[in-house]
Amino acid sequence: MHELKAKINETVKFIKEEMGRMPQPDVAIILGTGLGNLAEQIKDKKSLEYWKIPHFPLSTVKSHKGELVFGKIGDKNVVAMEGRFHNYEGYTLDEVTYPVRIVKALGANTLVVSNAAGGMNPKYNYGDLMAITDHINFTGSNPLIGPNDDSLGPRFPDFCDLYDPQLVELAGKIAKEEGISLQKGVYIGVTGPNLETRAEYKFFQVIGADAVGMSTVPEVIVAKHAGLRIFGISVITDICLPETLKPCNIDEIIKTANEAEPKLTKLIYKLIERI
Ligand code: HPA
Repeated sequence: MHELKAKINETVKFIKEEMGRMPQPDVAIILGTGLGNLAEQIKDKKSLEYWKIPHFPLSTVKSHKGELVFGKIGDKNVVAMEGRFHNYEGYTLDEVTYPVRIVKALGANTLVVSNAAGGMNPKYNYGDLMAITDHINFTGSNPLIGPNDDSLGPRFPDFCDLYDPQLVELAGKIAKEEGISLQKGVYIGVTGPNLETRAEYKFFQVIGADAVGMSTVPEVIVAKHAGLRIFGISVITDICLPETLKPCNIDEIIKTANEAEPKLTKLIYKLIERI
């Protein structure tokens, strides 16, 4: 057996023992920077801290908590990752994406992932939500590099319609019903941790990106490899137009994410109810 598969089996065995009779999750949710509150809305919940879980990396970012939250949203069984791992923190891409392997092995068939991102589309505003229609992997790496375990997914996964178009459409419909404005656009994933230069923002605009961020791309690559259906959503926490760029810091990004959180939570909640 491949080493990764053996680790996954150990982790899943532990989680199942810890969670007792919790039903297996249908939907997995990864909550981005400053966007952890959705976990509060989960009903009948039971949490498991990352540090207790064998083979799980530990969370270090100050705005992230570090636990798996199991429970219900509507009639769906969910598991939310409150706290995620970034490559820029020093975690390998195997570590960053390990929880995605785990939620798949626990039975999830859909992944909902949120993040804070810089907006490069001139139509975007602070606090806008953007349903991700596609992504550009600009991290310079890929979590699937290395021997492929065919039991986890194919060697050359197809990435046409990486983000499920039906879920994007459903999100658009729900946003309209709820009076939430929802942008749709392309997310470009970078490693960070620095924010980008003006020249980089200009380049990203030219190559077709609408928003930029330091997460999501590795997890989504592994999720698709594993056969999960994916919905991604960005909160535009800062405006990254090269001509009018102003200095921005992480506290402002977190503040904007927190302010936009109620509408994000509402949209994701309703989307999961109706998946
Ligand atoms: N770049 C620029 N602005 C951002 C980012 C990023 O990676 N993430 C959130 N806001």
